[in-house]
Amino acid sequence: MGACVRIRHVLAGEGLGAEIEVKGWVRTSRVGKGVAFLAVNDGSCFASLQVVAEQGMASYDAVCAIGTGAAVAVRGRLAESPASGQRYELHATAVEIVGPADEEYPLQKKRHTFEYLRTIAHLRPRSNTFGAVFRLRSSLAQAVHRFFAERGFLWVHTPIITTNDCEGAGEMFRVTTLDPSRPPLVGGQVDFSADFFGAQAGLTVSGQLEGELFAQAFTDIYTFGPTFRAENSNTPRHAAEFWMIEPEMAFADLMADAALAEEFFRYLCRHVLENCREDLEFFNGQIDTGLIARIEAVADTSFAMMEYGEAIERLKKASVSFEFPVSWGLDLQTEHERYLTEQVVGGPVFVVNYPKEIKAFYMRQNDDGKTVAAMDLLVPKVGEIIGGSQREERYDFLEARMRETGIAPESLWWYLDTRRWGSTPHAGFGLGFERLIMYLTGMENIRDVIPFPRTPRHAEF
Ligand code: 4AD
Ligand code: MG
Repeated sequence: MGACVRIRHVLAGEGLGAEIEVKGWVRTSRVGKGVAFLAVNDGSCFASLQVVAEQGMASYDAVCAIGTGAAVAVRGRLAESPASGQRYELHATAVEIVGPADEEYPLQKKRHTFEYLRTIAHLRPRSNTFGAVFRLRSSLAQAVHRFFAERGFLWVHTPIITTNDCEGAGEMFRVTTLDPSRPPLVGGQVDFSADFFGAQAGLTVSGQLEGELFAQAFTDIYTFGPTFRAENSNTPRHAAEFWMIEPEMAFADLMADAALAEEFFRYLCRHVLENCREDLEFFNGQIDTGLIARIEAVADTSFAMMEYGEAIERLKKASVSFEFPVSWGLDLQTEHERYLTEQVVGGPVFVVNYPKEIKAFYMRQNDDGKTVAAMDLLVPKVGEIIGGSQREERYDFLEARMRETGIAPESLWWYLDTRRWGSTPHAGFGLGFERLIMYLTGMENIRDVIPFPRTPRHAEF
C-alpha cells in the first residue's frame, strides 16, 4: 500500500491501477443494490473522489451508514470510471471512519444561502463555494509575492500596532492596556502617556508611511498584511479587518505607479485563469456567468485613464439619476465609480488628479494648486479596487499641507525627515486583497471572501 495521496493528484490519474489511500470528508453518500458510493473531498481541489464500496467488504454495513460530513480514510484501487462526469473512481478495500458525523451536521445536500453559511463560518469551508473561494485566495496570495519577487521588490513587514493614522480619517481601533472604567486623567482627559506605549496607539489603517521609509532605502518595496478600519460602514465592500498590498517605488511618478498597478492587476488575472481553472469554472457557472470572459478581457487589454475633471463631466451628462449629487470637488461614490467603469468605459479605468481636499495629506500637489497626483483604479462590479498616488516629496509643501489638514508636523517628524535627506519623487498604491478576490470570483459580499469576517457587530469565530 502506498502513502496517502491528495485527491487533486488522484483525479489527475496518479496511481491508476495501484492500491492507494485517501483521507477526507464525505460530501454525499448513496447506497444502491449491493454497493455504496461516497463522494470524498479533502479540499485539495473542487471535485470530490467517488469511492465505490461493494457488499462483502469487511465494514460494508458501517460504510452504508456513514453520514455526510464524516471524516474517512479509504484504501482501494484506482480505476477508470464507467460513470459519466468523472474519469476515475476508487474501488475500496477498506474504509476507516476517522470521525463520524450524524444527521445534525448542517451541511447536508441542500443548497444554503450565503447569509446562512455566514452563521456557520466554522463549517462553511467544507462547502463547494467556500472551498473554491479559499483555494483561490491562497493561490492569489502566493501570486502576489511571486509578482514582486520577480521584479526585485523587497517585502517589508510594517507594524500592525502604530501611533499614526496614515489616511487621517480617524478610523483607528484603539490599542490600550488602560482600565476603561478608571483611566488615568489629566485635566479631565485620558493620560495616554501612562498607557502601554506611552502614547495613543491603534491598529494600522495602512502600512504606507512606513513603506515609504523603506522605499527610500531599498528603492522598490511592498507590504502585504492585515489592515484595520473602524469605519461603521455596513456595505458589501467594507470590512473592519482586511488585507492590503501596498507597493512603493522611489524615483517614480504617477504614470509609473499606474503602469505598475496595471501590470500587477493583469498578472493576477492571468494567474487565476492559468492556475485556478477548476474553481473559476465553478464561479463562472454558479455565481457569475461571464466571469471568465471578463477576466480574460482584462488580462488582454490596456486600461483607460481619465482625469477626475472629465469623470465629473461624464457623470453630469449621464442619463441615469444618482443618489448622491455630482459636482467638481465631491468625492466619487460607488454608484459613480461603477457608472464610469461599467457604462462609460466598459472596463477598468484609472481616474487621476483628484481635488486635494478629498484626498490624504501625503499626495503630491499638482502645479494647478487645486489637484493632487492621485489615482484610483475602478473596475466593473466592484468600483474602487486600488487607491494610490505620487507622494509629496518636497519638504515645504508637505509641511504646509499637514498644517492645513490639522496634522501636527512634530507628530510625524520621522516622515518629514525623509524629505530632508535624499528625498526622491516616489509613488505607490494600495490594492484591497478582498476586493480583488470579489472581482475574480464574482462573489458579491466581502464577508464571503474572508475566512472569518470582522464587520460592525460581528467578530464571532
Ligand atoms: O484607498 P485607500 O484608503 O488607500 C490607502 O490606504 C493608501 N495608503 C494606499 C497607498 O497608496 N499605499 O485603500 C486602498 C484600497 C482601496 O482601494 C480598497 O480596495 C481597499 O484598500 N480598502 C478596503 N477593503 C475592504 N474594506 C475596507 N474597509 C477597505 N478600505 C479600503
Ligand atoms: Mg481610496
